[in-house]
Amino acid sequence: MNSKINILSALCIGSVLLFVTQNTMADAAAGKKIYDGIGACGSCHGPSGQGDGPAAMAMIPKPRSFGEGAFIYDTDGDGKKGTDADLVNIIKNGSAKYGGAPTMPARADIPESDIQALVAYIRTLKQ
Ligand code: HEC
Repeated sequence: MNSKINILSALCIGSVLLFVTQNTMADAAAGKKIYDGIGACGSCHGPSGQGDGPAAMAMIPKPRSFGEGAFIYDTDGDGKKGTDADLVNIIKNGSAKYGGAPTMPARADIPESDIQALVAYIRTLKQ
């Protein structure tokens, strides 16, 4: 093996990883703004996503705790629950469409790229 090529490919892979990480962090920061702002997700899911927002008190089922990071819907039927695509669908269409609670509202008014940012943010809340 040519060690110069090895170093070059390590550098390439490194910068791609750095790029991906930075992008995810930018998304998550944008997602937090939407979560706290127009999304008003914290009213139910709690200010830090632990499922303990003021509106959650009397709610059955409880809003999901993002700290647990355990999701229950497989919205696209790929056999996996809680993929990014599933969370996007739940936020966009609400839970009721997938047999869940009407208390998880559909937010089709939020642009798709902002919903993806919300998902990136929710992923950072897992403890
Ligand atoms: C009025 C209360 C309420 C608001 C506001 C709300 N949610 Fe929910 N959310 C719920 C409830 C209740 C559930 C559980 C639904 C169920 O189990 O059917 C839930 C579930 C979820 C899930 C879990 C889906 C799964 O597969 O387990 C995600 C993700 C989610 N909400 C994201 C959001 C985001 C992002 C926002 C803000 C745009 C938001 N929610 C706003 C009440 C709310």
